[in-house]
Amino acid sequence: MQVNTADFAISSTNVNKCPKTHFPEFAFIGRSNVGKSSLINMLCNKKIAHTSVKPGKTQLINHFLINNSWYVVDLPGYGYAKVSKTARVEFEKFISFYILERKNLVCLFVLIDIRLPLQAIDAQFMQWLAEEEIAFCIIFTKIDKLSKTELQKNVAAFQKEMLLTWEDMPDCILSSAEKKSGKEDILDFIEENIALYNKHLQQQPKGN
Ligand code: GTP
Ligand code: MG
Repeated sequence: MQVNTADFAISSTNVNKCPKTHFPEFAFIGRSNVGKSSLINMLCNKKIAHTSVKPGKTQLINHFLINNSWYVVDLPGYGYAKVSKTARVEFEKFISFYILERKNLVCLFVLIDIRLPLQAIDAQFMQWLAEEEIAFCIIFTKIDKLSKTELQKNVAAFQKEMLLTWEDMPDCILSSAEKKSGKEDILDFIEENIALYNKHLQQQPKGN
């Protein structure tokens, strides 16, 4: 699939303010600074989402309309240390509400910095997604920062760690916003899932 048009739609403070739509939606989440906004810019072929070297840049639910038929959503990062506990709890509520309530959310991309071993916060978050039966796909980011050997070693170690508690590995895609790699894999994944979503919509009785 090609991205022909990508337009900023709206920034929302909560799920009730997000666009009312049946268009399929794919959201990007992960620890602060993992590269969510950069990856969205790579997919859209333009600097549409704000990025920063400092963590905590994205604060709202940001919708971008792609090819006038589906949405990409840039979410704030989790696990940013420099916030108060109250702010963190509020933030977790706001994000979990979006994930649980957004009916047209087809799949969540969970971004993981593959330079690090599996972090507890990512493991807990994916566990929660599984418990809530939320479909997700892992995207390993910043692969340009590792050699081929290091990358293979880290991916193997990550999978080994996951498989201590998971029966199967979730889908995983390797990416680098810097080197523009992984784009085709992500867009192919999205295309397949849009087709499944549309098929499912057509099978729904009218009025749902
Ligand atoms: P928050 O919105 O703060 O949660 O961050 P984010 O996950 O949206 O990260 P963002 O895209 O703003 O990127 C954070 C930093 O990582 C920036 O300095 C990016 O230039 C850098 N970065 C993102 N992707 C890559 C990548 O693939 N390779 C390299 N080398 N740097 C990257
Ligand atoms: Mg961001």
